[in-house]
Amino acid sequence: MAICHNNQSTLKLISPSPPTTFSKPYRTTSIRCCTTSSINAAPFKALTTDPSPVFASVRTFAPATVANLGPGFDILGCAVDGLGDHVTLAVDPHVHPGQISISQITAANDSVGKKLTKNPNFNCAGIAALAVMKMLDIRSVGLSLSLEKGLPLGSGLGSSAASAAAAAVAVNELFGGRLTVSDLVLAGLESESRVSGYHADNVAPAIMGGFVLIQGYNPLELKRLRFPEEKDLFFVLVSPEFEAPTKKMRAALPTEITMSHHVWNCGQAVALAASLLEGDLKGLGTAMSSDRIVEPKRAPLIPGMEAVKKAAIEAGAFGCTISGSGPTAVAVVDSEERGREIGHRMVEAFMKEGNLKASAMVNSLDRVGARLVSSIPL
Ligand code: HSE
Repeated sequence: MAICHNNQSTLKLISPSPPTTFSKPYRTTSIRCCTTSSINAAPFKALTTDPSPVFASVRTFAPATVANLGPGFDILGCAVDGLGDHVTLAVDPHVHPGQISISQITAANDSVGKKLTKNPNFNCAGIAALAVMKMLDIRSVGLSLSLEKGLPLGSGLGSSAASAAAAAVAVNELFGGRLTVSDLVLAGLESESRVSGYHADNVAPAIMGGFVLIQGYNPLELKRLRFPEEKDLFFVLVSPEFEAPTKKMRAALPTEITMSHHVWNCGQAVALAASLLEGDLKGLGTAMSSDRIVEPKRAPLIPGMEAVKKAAIEAGAFGCTISGSGPTAVAVVDSEERGREIGHRMVEAFMKEGNLKASAMVNSLDRVGARLVSSIPL
């Protein structure tokens, strides 16, 4: 969200490109900085006054995300550039004060827009927007929200989280950017828990950008894990024509695990975090491919997934796993060109072994997260 930590225990805004208009920096007081960028959620204190909007309307963007990254089920995720959802939010005198109306939902694929409800209490953007309005105690103005879906639904690319993140940031920006990163993640988490499950590994990176560790949920504790700026990292994202709703894919998971699996997965998750901090793609890929708890239960539910992973690694990817709850497969590489070749092999494997059509993309890390794209003054 265009917030970066420096080494002086303060936060400062950086300008994402293209240039973005910011109202003012997010409140920073409840964010504790350290070298690993720890962000603790302080209980939000309701404001005593009802804040006024500082813009007539804002437009925001939030990126796609890859959750889990193999062994980091519900605790690790990262943002991916070039793909995501937009929200336009405006003060609307026709909407009852303190309420929100979803005026429009558009998507490149018409059927996507039609599947989503405009009832703000059941729409992921609406739920997150209402949660932020509640945190800010907005009582005097009504808002109308328009959602542009750039992400397909149920793809494993954090579609619901991108809508929630863009909406949460839009409401916050419209009222002058008063909330912390943690507040916004909590608003997004409220949406995720109602729509797909109680997990922040999509919505936290969608809001914060880069790699994020959710160290704990109660209280929410977030750590930014910085992948070195000078290193190349590309994600090969291969999405088959297959639906894998997160709720269903979560229901397939065991409720208990063995101690040996716990020890193994913890070791791999920590190795993954250490490797990404060092910019060691080989280590990152190896750890990403090593989940023994979640992936073995989900991969058989996605036709061809095991063969796709094998094809990616044989073709030279550092690692491969299911993106979030699937069905997208994600592989990690250090060259865009090699990523395209590997993507081609993965698409072939989905067809050959799973009888599924698939499409491949090669994207890099989004280090910015949800952002204000433009604003119209009052
Ligand atoms: N951690 C979540 C899951 C991510 O795997 O169910 C969903 O995108």
